[in-house]
Amino acid sequence: MDPIITVKELKNDPEIQALLRVTEVELEALGYTEHSNRHASIVSKWAGEVLAKLGGSEHEVYLAGIAGYLHDIGNAVNRHDHAQSGALLAYQLLVKRGMCFEDAAEIMLAIGNHDEQLGDAVSRITAALILADKADVHKSRVRKSKIRMIKTVDAEIKDIHDRVNFAAESSHLDVDPEKRRITLDITVDLSICSVMDYFEIYFSRMSFCRKAADLLGCTFSLKINNVVLL
Ligand SMILES: [Fe+2]
Ligand SMILES: [Fe+2]
Repeated sequence: MDPIITVKELKNDPEIQALLRVTEVELEALGYTEHSNRHASIVSKWAGEVLAKLGGSEHEVYLAGIAGYLHDIGNAVNRHDHAQSGALLAYQLLVKRGMCFEDAAEIMLAIGNHDEQLGDAVSRITAALILADKADVHKSRVRKSKIRMIKTVDAEIKDIHDRVNFAAESSHLDVDPEKRRITLDITVDLSICSVMDYFEIYFSRMSFCRKAADLLGCTFSLKINNVVLL
């Protein structure tokens, strides 16, 4: 059965795009990293891939893809509790576009639980979304206005998130279905930030990722510059 609505359609949907645009306005004003169409698309793709590689059904992969694309739209309301506001927004938007209540509710649950402060890995789709979201670390996510500061005045680098993102040359999730292991593999420029910076930032994120991997019947591993740290 063809899906009722696709990620491609969401990318051409003026209402969804308005929410993503306002999300970027808010997060740029607050000095947060990029949360645009790029982040939404990557999380959508990776969330689906995690479940596909672990033998998830086509339908489950589809739901993870939609949840991934919409997961941060709650920022259009407010950064605080954006997971909860985004979950409610997504449910209404999807039901309005013809999605059945059960599928829209699954997506609402995943989005409402994707943030480590109030969320938890409560379903397979939630777990895949958490892993995909936390894996998107890349220098292109740092605001241009902050790059000069990062490159030049070490003492002024206030935001460790920017430093960690700016040092990240690449990151991806490596899913090994045989060994039931999910590895976040990051390549970083250690002249910009130390491995300790990653630990500081990723300590709470990693336990969240571990719970997510656990729900999927896998262990979680963190690899930085080809060294397995967790
Ligand atoms: Fe988020
Ligand atoms: Fe996100």
